Amino acid sequence: MRYEVVLPAAGSGKRMGAGQNKLFLKLLEKPILIHTLEVFEQDTNCTGIWLAVRPEERPLIEEMLTQYGITKVKGLPAGGEERQHSVHSCMKEMEQVDIVLVHDAARPFITHDIIANLVQSAHDHGAAIAGVRAKDTMKKVRDGIIEETVDRESLWMIQTPQAFRFKLIYEAEDVAEKVGFLGTDEAMLVERLGHAVHIVESSYENVKMTTKEDLVFGEAILRQRG
Ligand code: C5P
Repeated sequence: MRYEVVLPAAGSGKRMGAGQNKLFLKLLEKPILIHTLEVFEQDTNCTGIWLAVRPEERPLIEEMLTQYGITKVKGLPAGGEERQHSVHSCMKEMEQVDIVLVHDAARPFITHDIIANLVQSAHDHGAAIAGVRAKDTMKKVRDGIIEETVDRESLWMIQTPQAFRFKLIYEAEDVAEKVGFLGTDEAMLVERLGHAVHIVESSYENVKMTTKEDLVFGEAILRQRG
């Protein structure tokens, strides 16, 4: 089943402390951004990629797309102050499609199988997001003191991709913008509309490259995959 993907890539990467956009850092000789783009370039169901970028980085990114043979990028609109704004600026430029995926450019290890499951679920239910079950004991803490131990059975750690019927996420973003609501993921915007969001079991390897330790983990995953 076909889809287009929005990749927000306009962050500053402060937590990585690299002094540059962390997506330009290399994992086994290739920039993180290119690893992520290649997943979608190689997925025959992906019919278009929208990349939100910092305007001053656009020329460099365009050069990288040519260098690494990435052909599916349809637009590179300017990102915004927050990730949600970056996603929205892509959505505003897109033509309507059936299914749209939103995926952090900083998660290069997503697989075609998980993407396919998400696209199918979004087609069937309207909204589906990737997540993994919480592995550790989870506690609610206030001022350094445990308030309660939360039932782990019902807890999931949420990732991207997040997949939606185009009209649903478009409306959700529109409403959020009008009322000035800022969510930490796209699903929150859809939840606010009262629409059910389904979960698709993902992989613990689908980590976001956020801090320096993640790079070590990332290179280990690449080596193991050969
Ligand atoms: O900072 P974090 O890793 O959580 O950001 C997730 C993704 O969102 C990254 O790929 C980053 O480049 C992107 N982002 C963005 N615009 C922002 C902030 C983050 O496109 N204003």
